[in-house]
Amino acid sequence: MTYQTLLVEQAGAVGLVTLNRPEALNAINTQLIDELNQALDGFERDPAIGCVLVTGSAKAFAAGADVKEMATLCFPGTYLDDFLGRWDRVAQRRKPIIAAVAGHALGGGFELALMCDFIIAADSARFGLPEVKLGVIPGAGGVQRLTRLVGRAKAMDMLLSGRSMDAFEAERCGVVARVVPADELLEEAMDSAQRIAAQSRTAVMMLKECVNRVDEGSLAEGLRFERRMFQAVFATPDQKEGMGAFIDKRKAEFGKA
Ligand code: HXC
Repeated sequence: MTYQTLLVEQAGAVGLVTLNRPEALNAINTQLIDELNQALDGFERDPAIGCVLVTGSAKAFAAGADVKEMATLCFPGTYLDDFLGRWDRVAQRRKPIIAAVAGHALGGGFELALMCDFIIAADSARFGLPEVKLGVIPGAGGVQRLTRLVGRAKAMDMLLSGRSMDAFEAERCGVVARVVPADELLEEAMDSAQRIAAQSRTAVMMLKECVNRVDEGSLAEGLRFERRMFQAVFATPDQKEGMGAFIDKRKAEFGKA
């Protein structure tokens, strides 16, 4: 499979996707989101892959959805084509996805990062939803996800003015998991992805499902779901191996299924 807008590689059990439209600071056009979904489909199906890493360039993770592509769109067309509908598939993936962000993560670029399970940021990263300055609003979940992460006051502050925040403010308010020096970003993120990929696949995917439940329903429903998943984990060989290895004082060797 060849891609025009991405570089797609495999490093051990990690699938690495690098957004690659340098002439447009990785602005996300239809082709890019389609290719990203194809690459993620492949990793999702591949039993050798346990975690996916999505990154951009040193200057930009992605500077937004492609304004040049959107400028002439009209409502009936966006509605009939369900414009942005395919973006949501990124958030529906079952294997974990880490976003490694350096430089600009703006508009749809920030929304894409927020669809990933967590963000590791370079100290050069800047995050913002500047759509209001273009006379539009975010549409790929950015308003919902940012507000849940940072609360109403800071979300309003950012959304209504379109201001962006640096990596350290993003870490303080819970948008990013951690900040690392820009020249160590890929190494740190890859290390994290390899660690995740080495865990039990079932336990990792169940954890992702449980965490996602936090945003989807009531606390009571979430607690019940989490407990049921915990009970189900005792049906897996990985549970026997993980707990057995602890008791035997050896390193666990988890299966791939
Ligand atoms: C299309 C873009 C782009 C974008 C940058 N480029 N962002 N093209 N869509 N979102 C292009 C520029 O037109 C330019 O191409 C080239 O990339 C380099 O950009 P410069 O502006 O020359 O770079 P710089 O001066 O370093 O400024 C960087 C920047 C600025 C601050 C990030 O590019 C910028 O403000 N970009 C737009 C950010 C934005 O508004 N994003 C939200 C988009 S709306 P040429 O050909 O001129 O050299 C959105 C809606 C989401 O995302 C809805 C749901 C998904």
